[in-house]
Formats: sequence, C-alpha cells, structure tokens
Amino acid sequence: MEAHRLDGDNRLKLGVFALNCSGGCAISSAPEAHAIEWRRNVAIAREADLGGFELLVPIGRWRGFGGITDYNGTNFETFTWGAGMAQATECIGIMSTCHVGLIHPLVAAKQAVTIDHISGGRYGLNIVCGWSKSEMDMFGAPMLPHDERYDYAGEWIDIVRKAWTAQAPFDYEGRYLKVHQAVSWPKPLRQPMPPLMNAGGSPRGKRFCAEHCDIAFVLLEPGNMGSTRQRIAEYRSFAREEFGREMKVWANGYVVQADTQARADAALHRYAIELGDDVAVENLAQELGVAGKLPSREAYENFKFHFKAGAGGYPLVGTAQSIADTLCGLADAGLDGVLLSWLDYAEGISAWNRTVSPLLKKSGLRA
Ligand SMILES: Cc1cc2nc3c(=O)[nH]c(=O)nc-3n(C[C@H](O)[C@H](O)[C@H](O)COP(=O)(O)O)c2cc1C
Repeated sequence: MEAHRLDGDNRLKLGVFALNCSGGCAISSAPEAHAIEWRRNVAIAREADLGGFELLVPIGRWRGFGGITDYNGTNFETFTWGAGMAQATECIGIMSTCHVGLIHPLVAAKQAVTIDHISGGRYGLNIVCGWSKSEMDMFGAPMLPHDERYDYAGEWIDIVRKAWTAQAPFDYEGRYLKVHQAVSWPKPLRQPMPPLMNAGGSPRGKRFCAEHCDIAFVLLEPGNMGSTRQRIAEYRSFAREEFGREMKVWANGYVVQADTQARADAALHRYAIELGDDVAVENLAQELGVAGKLPSREAYENFKFHFKAGAGGYPLVGTAQSIADTLCGLADAGLDGVLLSWLDYAEGISAWNRTVSPLLKKSGLRA
C-alpha cells in the first residue's frame, strides 16, 4: 500500500477542489473558465500530484444552475472519476463525493473499495446529504426534512463501515435502511478505513460530522483570524467532548494570483464581476434559500460575489507572497487543510508549484 499523503507531516495540507464540474468553483463566462474534458482533468491532477498536493475532491453534482454558463452543468460522476484519477496519478489522495440518498450504501462501499485498491490505499469518501431539491427531484428521490437527512446518513455510513470491516455476513435494520446477510470483499487496503469527510454546517450537520467523519469541510469567513481560530477549535473540541474523536478541519479557498495585488484584484473583478454569470448565481442562491437568512441586501450581494469568485471559499487573492502569508495565518489559526480552486486550474497550479510552493517550504508550512 502507498503511504497516504493525508498522513504526511505537512502542517497545512493542500487539495484541489471541483475539477470534475464545468466552471469548477468560478461562476463566470470567462473563456478560460474550467471546461470538462477528461485529458485536461488528468493533466491538472498530475500537475497537482507532482507538486505534492495531498488530495483531489470532486463536487457531487448532477445538474447545472442555468445562466449563460449552466454553471456545473457538465460534470463527471465522482466514483468513476475517482477510479480514473486513481489510475492516472501516483501519490495524491482521491475522494469521491457521494449523495447518500442516491446510492445504496453497499454499492457505494464496494465502489469505494475498488478505488481504494486501484489507488493503492489513497482513497477517501466525502459524504453529502443533498441540499438541492431540483437535483433530488431529477431522481424522484425524497427530500427528507433537514435534520432527518443526517439521521439517514448515519444509518448509511453505519452500513458502509460494516461492509468495509465485517468479516462475516451481517444484517442491519434501521429506520430507513435494511440489509440482509450483507457481504463485501475485498476490504479496503487503507486500515482501519478510508477517511471520511463531510461539510455539514448546521448544528445537526456538525454533530453528524463529529460523530462519523475524520475531516470537517467548512466555509470560513474571510478576514477575522480570531473568529476563524475559535470556529476551528470549536469543531475539534465538540468532536472530542461528545464522541471522543479527533477531527481535522479543512476549508476551501479560491486562488487569484498575479505579480502585484492590483493585478490580482483586477483579474478577480474581470471574471467575477464583469464576466460573472449573475443568473446562475442567483439560481444557486435561490435554491439555497440564502436571501431570507442574510441580514441585508449588501450581505446577499457579498455572498453572491464570493460564490461567483470561488464557491464562497476563502479568498487567496494577491501575490505569491501574500497568498503564502495568508495560508500561514490560517494554519496558525488551526486549519489542517485547504482545498483550492482557480479560474484556470492548469495555469493556476503550474504557477502555484513554481512560485507559492517554495515560499510555503521556506516558511516551514510544507516540506
Ligand atoms: C465547502 C463545501 C463543499 C460542499 N460540497 C458539496 C457537494 O459537492 N455536493 C453537495 O451536494 N453539497 C455540497 N455541500 C453542501 C453540504 O453538503 C451541506 O449541504 C451544506 O454545507 C449545508 O450544511 P447543513 O445541511 O448542515 O446545513 C458543500 C458545502 C461546503 C461548505
């Protein structure tokens, strides 16, 4: 088995987010926005692998958000994508993002183990419960009340865990799921289990994540490092106190790198404001139901801006040095990893490997 880079010594781990979906994280009609083509996906993943990145995480998405870009509307299914990525790369970790309501846990467990074996133990699973009603409707799948989705996910992951570990046939009878004399061979190479990730943000979601997962994937508010530090610490201490478990905390961040801050700001303005797909982001925001939850029109516009810029991730906008400094600040605040996205992944990762990586090495953040 390969050593999993996730277990390595780098103080801040790095991943690439959303390679499998058109646009990636940027809701923009800029011509260089991410296009879905397998060879391009492989070339980007290999560049990240060579650069020492720890993880590839796809978005679990089945339909787009309309607008002129139909943002995310062209997308690779994440288990088959993960299998291909496993074969195409050498050392980087690979995740699938699975909607628990759409795939039977015994099928998911088996698909996951298959990728774990193809990759030599580099696999992990990102669990999502489904927040988009139009996505669930497309399958005729029920949209359970919010907190119940996590109850369902709890049963689902119990079955996956048993499939990965049980040495004898097992039965399971829950409120939502039943299996009879289930068997699943082979077991994962990665022991005791492939790592699990979840991005639940509500109290029920955080509880699910703390109880079952190894990595909490969170949205961080830019700016105030004090509150960031506190939020990260709260995630960890909650998992420790409630379930006696150690949890890592990762966030997503969008990168706009240039040789001056002014050029980086201008590049962001161009793709997110001048060429931003306002219809697609409005559709996404409506589906999320955020307008009613935010305190003001200004907060709503700000939300949409960050979604167009990079799926609401932490802004890493500036020079190689300022980006490296921000990452050092986030690591000091306790963050374990960042999943990055770019408008143009190929150009972005290549510049990252040449210019940001050496600075992170110099600062001691990464080897
Ligand atoms: C960084 C991040 C990435 C996410 N990726 C996906 C995804 O790929 N597919 C999906 O259906 N939901 C995704 N979600 C949505 C979450 O699964 C979840 O529905 C959301 O964070 C709301 O959490 P809550 O249900 O606890 O309120 C993501 C959320 C965040 C913050």
